[in-house]
Amino acid sequence: MRLTFFGHSCFLLETDRARLLFDPYFTGNPLAPVAADAVGCDYILVSHGHEDHTCDALAIARRCDATLVANYEIAEYFAAQGAKTHGLNPGGGFNFPFGRVKLTLAHHTSSAEAGLKPIYLGVACGLLVSADGKNVYHAGDTALFLDLQLIGRAGLDAALIPIGDNYTMGPDDALVALDFLRPKLAIPMHYNTWPEIAQDGAAFATRAAAAGHAVRPLLPGESIVL
Ligand code: NI
Ligand code: MN
Repeated sequence: MRLTFFGHSCFLLETDRARLLFDPYFTGNPLAPVAADAVGCDYILVSHGHEDHTCDALAIARRCDATLVANYEIAEYFAAQGAKTHGLNPGGGFNFPFGRVKLTLAHHTSSAEAGLKPIYLGVACGLLVSADGKNVYHAGDTALFLDLQLIGRAGLDAALIPIGDNYTMGPDDALVALDFLRPKLAIPMHYNTWPEIAQDGAAFATRAAAAGHAVRPLLPGESIVL
């Protein structure tokens, strides 16, 4: 399978039978190497409601006739706007034709802007995808938490983890997260998008290597084969 990074927490995972787009954020994303309408997908996987994870979800879902997979509240929110959706809740998974998506815990908030007050859209989640004999975990936005150990028990071929600090765990906590998750490969995300989450991905990879973890920072637009 092929994984492409679009900056922030936005990735495209191309499996044998479907293209999965995680947390679409092209419009207004200073790191995005392409525009939202340049990307095609069959499924859109959304970790939580915040704008920097959902802003292009509806337009892409409509244009590609893609199914949006997220927590129940986010699924209903986008279904009401005409998207095809599949709602889950943490701990639950579903076997799609391409493989399985399971929602995992995350410690973060989940809301959408709606006039003066945000509306709340369930809880923030992580996304565990099993396809083509591999497990890929997208942590969403999260703090460090001990139950990451349970997610790691699945045996992770790749873990996409936030390192930006301020809104999510920063590099120090992300190193502990790697001890809990023990993925074959980790890819840092949710950093360098704005000044308050500026981090050095290469320095993080060096520190992780000293602790026995393989970390590969990707440039926006870069792809790797898992
Ligand atoms: Ni967030
Ligand atoms: Mn975020």
